[in-house]
Amino acid sequence: MGKDAVFRGSPERACDFEFNAEVAEVFDDMLVRSVPFYLEQQNMLQRIGSKFWVPGTTACDLGCSTATTLLGLCDMLPASAHLIGYDNSRPMLEQARRKIAKSKREEQIEVRYGDLNGDLSAIALDNASVVTMSWTLQFVRPLRRDDLIRWIYSKLVDEGLLIVTEKILTNNGHMNRFFVEHYYEFKRSQGYSESEILRKREALENILIPYRLEENVELFRRNGFQIVETFFQWFNFAGFVCIKKPTLVQQASS
Ligand SMILES: C[S@@+](CC[C@H](N)C(=O)[O-])C[C@H]1O[C@@H](n2cnc3c(N)ncnc32)[C@H](O)[C@@H]1O
Repeated sequence: MGKDAVFRGSPERACDFEFNAEVAEVFDDMLVRSVPFYLEQQNMLQRIGSKFWVPGTTACDLGCSTATTLLGLCDMLPASAHLIGYDNSRPMLEQARRKIAKSKREEQIEVRYGDLNGDLSAIALDNASVVTMSWTLQFVRPLRRDDLIRWIYSKLVDEGLLIVTEKILTNNGHMNRFFVEHYYEFKRSQGYSESEILRKREALENILIPYRLEENVELFRRNGFQIVETFFQWFNFAGFVCIKKPTLVQQASS
């Protein structure tokens, strides 16, 4: 994989961001340099996911990109574990298949085309004890997010886990700017120029739609999850664990 220079070059370019072949080719580098504590967050996902995985069930990654999460989680699970990733970018799926083959995990990990804005019944999620969705919900149309979370909840086994990481907004415009300025400082420290930062921001403007932390928590709760906690926050980035624990509801009503 190459180094991310997607937003270098001609400054006029202001197309909407796409998960196309050019992006897929440099995506691993882009994520490490664009998501603060990306590797640490992956580590946390793997550790939390491996504690909730139940033998005989699957682990699924929605918006799996190049399979980084699937490969990391696979390393933490026994050889009998079956992992499935979904993404609607064919170039990302190609990169994922290459990485899976290189690490000789084809027997355990499968990646498939799936559109989270489309017909969810076309995505097989049954019998999952762990579902991960990192920096992907923010790309799903807001009007579809309730359906998506309710569907994940309905498909998880009891005591199953959904882990979500997202970019978030704060409750206050000044704080938003303050947090975003810290984020841009992080990007500068990773070698991105002012114009690369600005052009990527413009390209993502109508594509990446973040919610506030509380809006995300509400979204998970109203669509079924009985336990919702944040396990990570760095300025405008947050991670959530959501647990399907219907026994809590049964106990409360009996
Ligand atoms: C920021 S990347 C996710 C990074 C990845 N989860 C990781 O941790 O390495 C977002 C991914 O979501 C995928 N995506 C965006 N919209 C989608 C949709 N409607 N259905 C399925 N995948 C989608 C993109 O193709 C992209 O691979």
